[in-house]
Amino acid sequence: MKYQSQKVAYWYILAAMALFGVQVLGGLVAGWIYVSPNFLSELIPFNVIRMIHTNALIVWLLLGFFGAAYFLIPEESERELWSPKLAYLQLIILLVGTLGAVGSYLVGIHGGREFLEQPLWVKFGILVAALIFLLNISMTVLAGKKTAITNVLLLGLWLLSLLWVFAFINPDNLSLDKMYWWFVVHLWVEATWELVMAAILAFLLLKLTGVDREVVEKWLYVIVATALFSGILGTGHHFYWIGLPEYWQWVGSIFSTFEVIPFFLMMSFAFVMVWKGRKNHPNKAALLWSLGSSTVAFFGAGVWGFLHTLHGVNFYSHGTQITAAHGHLAFYGAYVALNLALFSYAMPMLRERAPYNQVLNMVSFWLMTGGMAFMTFVLTFAGTIQTHMQRVVGDYYMDVQDSLSVFYLMRFGAGAAVVIGALLFIYSMLVVRKDEVIAPGPANPVPGE
Ligand code: HEM
Ligand code: HEM
Ligand SMILES: [Fe+2]
Repeated sequence: MKYQSQKVAYWYILAAMALFGVQVLGGLVAGWIYVSPNFLSELIPFNVIRMIHTNALIVWLLLGFFGAAYFLIPEESERELWSPKLAYLQLIILLVGTLGAVGSYLVGIHGGREFLEQPLWVKFGILVAALIFLLNISMTVLAGKKTAITNVLLLGLWLLSLLWVFAFINPDNLSLDKMYWWFVVHLWVEATWELVMAAILAFLLLKLTGVDREVVEKWLYVIVATALFSGILGTGHHFYWIGLPEYWQWVGSIFSTFEVIPFFLMMSFAFVMVWKGRKNHPNKAALLWSLGSSTVAFFGAGVWGFLHTLHGVNFYSHGTQITAAHGHLAFYGAYVALNLALFSYAMPMLRERAPYNQVLNMVSFWLMTGGMAFMTFVLTFAGTIQTHMQRVVGDYYMDVQDSLSVFYLMRFGAGAAVVIGALLFIYSMLVVRKDEVIAPGPANPVPGE
């Protein structure tokens, strides 16, 4: 850690990991309800558990991004953060909002609209926190060195924060409601978050492989250009059946097909950098997560996204377990694994210790990734059968669900592996072995520098 204010990131990462635990446990309970439908139904109904699962996911991923920004921006722009105090204030606002949202959900208060269920006051809190964040990082970068990595990171964070405004626009007209909803949901994960992902990935690869900055920057610009070119009009793949004009079927199909390109490029980028790099960095776990993230993102978002994105296919598969299969692998690969890569890289420095518990961390990678892959396959099989029985044959929804129970049992098993992996990961980040504490001094440079 070169700059004192990078320490802010530590608290963001801790909060993110705590919510990560809540998120996967919530998923496991939701998965069990699919096996045993009356489980907890009187106490906390499925829809509430589902909200906690998906909201915790989004909030911890954002906390991770904020932490990543606070960690890497001082290093890139070669100066301390503009205001560490504001960064802590922002964290407190976000945590109060999170507790407020969960509390409201538990007593049944929510705004509907998947992912955006937060009560209005929480939405305002998030807006205020986002503005504080933008001010803080922008002032830091403006006063310091500007690199391609900070430029792209800032562009992504500014755009994603501005898109949050659409979370407040909820017209009575259901078509317009859905349209604005996708402005947030799609343009986050398939445009602006991709820029954040590309910037963080570039930072990690720069540090871990020792490749020249100019090479990293060239890749970064091409990835950003293809992501925005494809992702913005790619929103059309959600406009097929919600009452918008028919031309979206072609615009959406064509442009969302191009969305595969930036994910393919990010995967190639990671492998080419490792292949070209000369550095033998001691933090192997961070490298594994970086490679794993870009690879699984290509399969989850690119391959599993393309699988159902053409309107002729989506006509049948829309809203089935195929969608859930894709949603899980894409979110896991692109954003969960990327955050865990950054945590694996940053935590040893933030806690001034060797890249510790590497083996445990890598075991957690394979457990989580294996579990997620298995869950994706199982849900894809379930979704294929569901699509056929429900959309082709015309059987009733609930009858079809009954015949899918074996898949839901297997999904629960896969989910349990993911949860164990997640807990192992958190343990490997937090528990220090004695021989891994670094006694500061020239003989023990902080790893990763
Ligand atoms: C880091 C890992 C995970 C990520 C990124 C993730 C992500 C998501 C997302 C994005 C959704 C909404 C899906 C959609 O609308 O199509 C969802 C729902 C769900 N997830 Fe997860 N999840 C994770 C872990 C788990 C685990 C471990 C389980 C355990 C079985 C699980 C079970 C579920 C269930 C049952 C739903 C509700 C599906 C439905 O309503 O049909 N998830 N998850
Ligand atoms: C990391 C990037 C991505 C993430 C995190 C992601 C996540 C998701 C999630 C959670 C949903 C379910 C939304 C809901 O209805 O509740 C979804 C739907 C969808 N995604 Fe993605 N996605 C990503 C990239 C892509 C890409 C690149 C494509 C196309 C090539 C794609 C195609 C689709 C389609 C067509 C749907 C609608 C499915 C339906 O009609 O039910 N996604 N995505
Ligand atoms: Fe989309």
